[in-house]
Amino acid sequence: MQPENIGIIGYPLGHTLSPVFQNVALTHHGINAKFTAWPVSPDDLASKVATFREPDFIACCVTLPHKLAVIPLIDELAETAEAVGAVNWIVNDNGKLLGHNTDAAGFYRALTELGGFNVEGCNAVVAGAGGAARAIVQALVSGKACRVTIANRTLERAQSLVSAWQSSPNPSETKVEAIGLSRDELKHIASEVDLWVNTTSVGMAGGPAPDQSPIPADLIRDGQTGYDAVYAPPITPFMQAITDAGGTALGGLTMLILQGAVGFELATGKPAPVDKMFAAVEEATSK
Ligand code: ATR
Repeated sequence: MQPENIGIIGYPLGHTLSPVFQNVALTHHGINAKFTAWPVSPDDLASKVATFREPDFIACCVTLPHKLAVIPLIDELAETAEAVGAVNWIVNDNGKLLGHNTDAAGFYRALTELGGFNVEGCNAVVAGAGGAARAIVQALVSGKACRVTIANRTLERAQSLVSAWQSSPNPSETKVEAIGLSRDELKHIASEVDLWVNTTSVGMAGGPAPDQSPIPADLIRDGQTGYDAVYAPPITPFMQAITDAGGTALGGLTMLILQGAVGFELATGKPAPVDKMFAAVEEATSK
């Protein structure tokens, strides 16, 4: 039996794809470990994280709602976790727990490597102001975007995300600003946009508005790129609107797998077999 010394914690965890692509990567490198899904309630979080210090424990991916709650339970934050203000991987370094954030890197790799998009100098609109938006804005700022507009239904949440950037010790050259998520506000900037990103749950299967796009279709232009952090369904109404307008659309599965690939590399020190990981997810989701 393989040791269950690497995995994912979240609550509720439901059906997670992470074991599907992480176990393929472990097998590829002949690593004797089984990537396991652990549903861990907030009450059990501290005792579960304590077990990560055990000598043969490798690492753990962290998902909702624990990305902030694990911070006081671990020993050190890597620069990526400091920058995003959240942890999505904990790596055991001889009993010392180090927190990383690979969401920003996963998004950046998806956008640039799979989407062929050039972030430097771009104008981006990010719909939503939750945790996913924070990681994505971080990726766009460190990639030297010219302007990032955070468009959120609740304007105050977008404004507080902007304040967090402005008050950071190394404010970047990127202009980060906040607007409401309404057609009226978006229409003034729509023609100058290179990249639209959705981090809201609009368009998500089982979410509040599964048939809608957070960005009105008639504001989308030919040549614009659209990234949807939503991954179910694989083609959301927003992605369809981007494609219909002649643009390039990418879905959230790319970020899910590539954040995992970066995490796998931090955890094992070995290159993630990204093609095999994508193929495993493709197979699992086409059943
Ligand atoms: P996450 O951490 O995954 O990003 P979150 O913190 O719950 O999730 O944020 C969800 C985002 O989706 C928020 O920006 C939310 O907008 P509000 O801040 O106004 O709540 C957005 N959202 C959820 N349902 C929405 C809807 N029906 N229309 C527009 N935005 C919506």
